[in-house]
Amino acid sequence: MENKKAYIITGPTSGIGYATALELAKHGTVILVGRNPDKLNQVQNVIKEKGQDAVTVVCDISDMKSVRSAAQEIIKLQLPIAGLLNNAGIMPAKAAKSAQGWDMTFATNHLGAFALTEALAPHLPDGANVVFITSAIEDPERKPAKLMGMKGGRYLSAEASAHGEWEPGGAKMPGIDAYATSKQCILAAAMAFARKDPRLHYNAVEPGITRGTGLGGESTNAFVRFLFGQLMAIIPPFSKYSSTPEKSARVIANILTDASGKTGVYFDEKGQPMFGSTLTLDPEFQDRVVAETRALLSTIK
Ligand SMILES: NC(=O)c1ccc[n+]([C@@H]2O[C@H](COP(=O)([O-])OP(=O)(O)OC[C@H]3O[C@@H](n4cnc5c(N)ncnc54)[C@H](OP(=O)(O)O)[C@@H]3O)[C@@H](O)[C@H]2O)c1
Repeated sequence: MENKKAYIITGPTSGIGYATALELAKHGTVILVGRNPDKLNQVQNVIKEKGQDAVTVVCDISDMKSVRSAAQEIIKLQLPIAGLLNNAGIMPAKAAKSAQGWDMTFATNHLGAFALTEALAPHLPDGANVVFITSAIEDPERKPAKLMGMKGGRYLSAEASAHGEWEPGGAKMPGIDAYATSKQCILAAAMAFARKDPRLHYNAVEPGITRGTGLGGESTNAFVRFLFGQLMAIIPPFSKYSSTPEKSARVIANILTDASGKTGVYFDEKGQPMFGSTLTLDPEFQDRVVAETRALLSTIK
């Protein structure tokens, strides 16, 4: 039986995460981590109906206390975990506050994934894969993002980001600076983890411009919704990076189940290595993001 290993996935109830959960179920038990119990149960039922295994863990990834208790719940399951996929993410146009009063986008996309990884890492077996879904929007030089007026990550400090403050001169489109900064931080952290912890394998994936997901659906900006939903799949240069949840899922599942020991690699939507922004390649920036994020998280008792 191949069904010996277990894979944790956050945000398995929609889009890329849903397709990846179904893909991962072919390789082992899937630990479905999400905020909505009904949606989690639905995904679990789909997997079980195929004769595969899934368990559910309720967790609001934007709430650090919820993340901590979910990590404890996962550890108590005592499953042979081979991989952790940090996939849950949001890109709302309207700023909102998390349970800790922090910027919701930064808390969900960076702080939650970071906190979950740090809580679980000591309990993962040697050689386990930890994968982060980031976004090329973090790179101010990324051609399609540049064309849309995006300016990349606008990091001042972890504390400033938590307060919803970004380096001035950012994108005109609401919510984009928060999104790009959160993704820049989690990519930088992934690369720092890979350098500092040789026991586990840490990689990141840019899933491509993936249509048909819920991302940006919270957006009140119909133009942004249309861009991400339809237009980008067909118009060059965007179409070059276009993907579907099913395609992204196959790429991500391959990376998460890979046993070759790759670490510190940033993969594109085709599963090929790519470069992040200059900042994310800089070990000093990576270490600063990690140190500041840890300091911020340590304020939550
Ligand atoms: N689509 C793209 O073009 C694209 C491009 C680059 C990167 N990405 C990244 O890919 C990942 C998946 O996005 P997607 O496009 O598949 O979007 P999606 O369909 O909206 O899925 C997002 C998932 O995250 C979950 N989630 C959101 N906030 C959460 C919270 N506070 N606690 C727990 N779970 C939460 C959602 O749960 P609910 O079902 O409960 O809402 C959902 O399962 C994200 O990290 C996104 O930034 C997407």
